[in-house]
Amino acid sequence: MLMQISISPTDRLFVLTGAGISAESGLPTFRASDGLWAGHRIEDVCTPEALEENPALVWEFYSQRREQGAKAEPNPAHRALADLEAKLGDRFFLCTQNVDDLHDRAGSRRLIHMHGELAKSRCEDECGRPPIEDRTVYASLVEVGRCTCGARLRPHIVFFGETPLEMSRIQSKIDDCSLMVVIGTSGSVYPAANFVNWARHAGARTVYVGPERPLNASAFTHIVEGKAGEVLPGLFEVLSI
Ligand code: APR
Repeated sequence: MLMQISISPTDRLFVLTGAGISAESGLPTFRASDGLWAGHRIEDVCTPEALEENPALVWEFYSQRREQGAKAEPNPAHRALADLEAKLGDRFFLCTQNVDDLHDRAGSRRLIHMHGELAKSRCEDECGRPPIEDRTVYASLVEVGRCTCGARLRPHIVFFGETPLEMSRIQSKIDDCSLMVVIGTSGSVYPAANFVNWARHAGARTVYVGPERPLNASAFTHIVEGKAGEVLPGLFEVLSI
């Protein structure tokens, strides 16, 4: 029988997800492939320098991601987390590294997209206006929309070398948790790969779910091997008083 994780009436849960949770929805993970897109290293396309030097290439990449994301549907793992949030309320918090909207569409609400969101764009000049909803698949750079200040829009994505979003809120939610569950992330991108160490420092139990051991496997108190969509629906036992 598969392992179950008991959640007591006083537990506070912090969940971190990565590309692996969307794999069963048909969205490829980053490091499963050869890490290349159209002959470019991902790390060369998703940077502020690439946006400066070759915005057409950056927008082509994210337009393709938008097209692919729109066709994908939430899978049983996304839905299991939304169901768990419905039971735990404010004792549940979800932080995702994914820029797709599958958690949102599954019903998760206490959610931070720390690496940004595919379905939004913002001012390339950082004029201070908030990101706007933008699911447009642009066929060329001339079609890309403009901010009301006149500057071109950029994807609302945290590029390599940029600071993830809402870090102080994330830090305080980790300080406050008694259980951290990390799902489908290789543990190779920081600071997210360090969250498990912050949680252990705060005295929390730490569980990893995925088909392979992540690079930071030794920091977890439990590893549950398997695909998220198969493991998560039966993983949690919510205890009442
Ligand atoms: N269920 C759970 N995990 C899975 C599944 C599955 N069905 N399929 C694959 N995985 C796991 C892989 O074993 C791997 O450890 O998902 C992980 C995906 O790792 P990465 O491709 O490195 O993705 P991630 O860790 O989310 O990348 C982090 O890097 O490129 C940047 O900003 C981007 O948010 C991304 C960040």
